[in-house]
Amino acid sequence: MGNVTDASSALEGRAPASYIEVQHSAPLAGEVVVPGAKNSVLKLMAASLMADGIFEISNVPDIVDVGIMADLLRAIGLRIDIDRAHSVVTIENRGELTPVAPYELVERIRASINVLGPLLTRCGRVTLSMPGGDDFGSRPIDMHIAGLKAMGATFKFGSGYLEAFADQLHGADITFEFPSVGATENLLTAAVLANGTTTIANAAREPEIIDLCEFLQAMGAEIEGVGTPILTVTGVQQHDLHGCEHETVPDRIQAATYIAACAVTGGSIDVLNARPDHMKIVLARFTDMGMKFEPLPYGLRVRAPERLRATDVATLPYPGIATDYKPLIITMLAVAEGVSIVTENLFPGRFRYVEELQRLGADIRTAGHHAVVRGVPRLSGAPVESHDIRAGAAMVVAGLAAEGTTMITGVHHIDRGYDNLVGRLSAIGANISRVDV
Ligand code: EPZ
Repeated sequence: MGNVTDASSALEGRAPASYIEVQHSAPLAGEVVVPGAKNSVLKLMAASLMADGIFEISNVPDIVDVGIMADLLRAIGLRIDIDRAHSVVTIENRGELTPVAPYELVERIRASINVLGPLLTRCGRVTLSMPGGDDFGSRPIDMHIAGLKAMGATFKFGSGYLEAFADQLHGADITFEFPSVGATENLLTAAVLANGTTTIANAAREPEIIDLCEFLQAMGAEIEGVGTPILTVTGVQQHDLHGCEHETVPDRIQAATYIAACAVTGGSIDVLNARPDHMKIVLARFTDMGMKFEPLPYGLRVRAPERLRATDVATLPYPGIATDYKPLIITMLAVAEGVSIVTENLFPGRFRYVEELQRLGADIRTAGHHAVVRGVPRLSGAPVESHDIRAGAAMVVAGLAAEGTTMITGVHHIDRGYDNLVGRLSAIGANISRVDV
């Protein structure tokens, strides 16, 4: 397999310093296609560490984090080919693995923690740089560690690294205090090659977790309860696992981003590949705001009112409203009629972008994990900075509803999770451009 050499490829992990310029935009109209989900594909790629063979993952978004994950997995011993033209990643695992995840790569993406379960269960040991937090706060991994310990792993910590050991993991009954996405993924993958049966109660059940379960099943894993809060994994032997083909689930957060962009411009668009069944509660809140939705055979028709209405929103684990939607929701409410209260229940510090929205004239007050949003008729453009992926997308959406020019820096954050956000928005009529410097 050859490696892609195109230096401009977002998938290959290189992005130039850039900014995005957005002008107030007329109602958006047309069709936009939603790419595959970042928070699924990165985990699928990590899970390919577990079996020898060839893996072909399709519907892969062209985002920087895919390139970083590819570099991390190459450093561990996989061969990876990224075909941007067809949105396919092909991974060859010959079983020649060095179970060490170095700092330079781990510190760049949170999802690098997802190599822990696969490497531990397959290689019996892992050395992993401790993953850092995001800009919105510290992100502990105590649940990952406690679960793996219950399965027989031992840990050593020092010099910013964790080392994990387990000659043979064994099944265990694990009940999470909280349905952590990452901990569910690590224990799920670890359990696939463990001796005996593992149950994970109060497991996360996001569409991306279901996607990972289906990938593991296609690889030969035995998992029951997929999509429910109780996952039961019966350990199989290494030789039972093999390569597989899999299509990545569409990205519900990117889908919501185009819905939000349509909403603040009073537009009407078709969001192709959106999965309304994965977005039931957030679509219900958008409906409260005055949006209208109609399912299409492969997507969702979206109609926005002239002006959105206020509504209260609280983030919760799936099927609740994902914390990743929140910057978009707050942006929509910032231009809605009335006063809304938004409550963050997952990452208490995840309000930093509010200061940036205030620079655009939004009337938002935060107290603890609540935000009170008093809608204003119109925002006004200003320079703003994106501090994380979702906040960056929210700035872009805000810019569409702001008079004048909004210049968004920190675009490298957006590139981590959005596949051609500017091109996709521009194609449906947004007044937006990107400058790479
Ligand atoms: C995933 O992070 C996503 N990241 C996040 O998306 C997303 O916001 C989050 O799930 C919640 O939906 C990836 O998939 C790469 P968690 P993750 O474990 O797995 C606490 C994006 O922009 N916790 O469900 O880290 C934790 O501190 C990113 O794409 C512990 O206390 O989320 C947090 O408060 C941002 N101990 C809460 O649980 C643990 O051991 C949710 O974390 C694990 C988690």
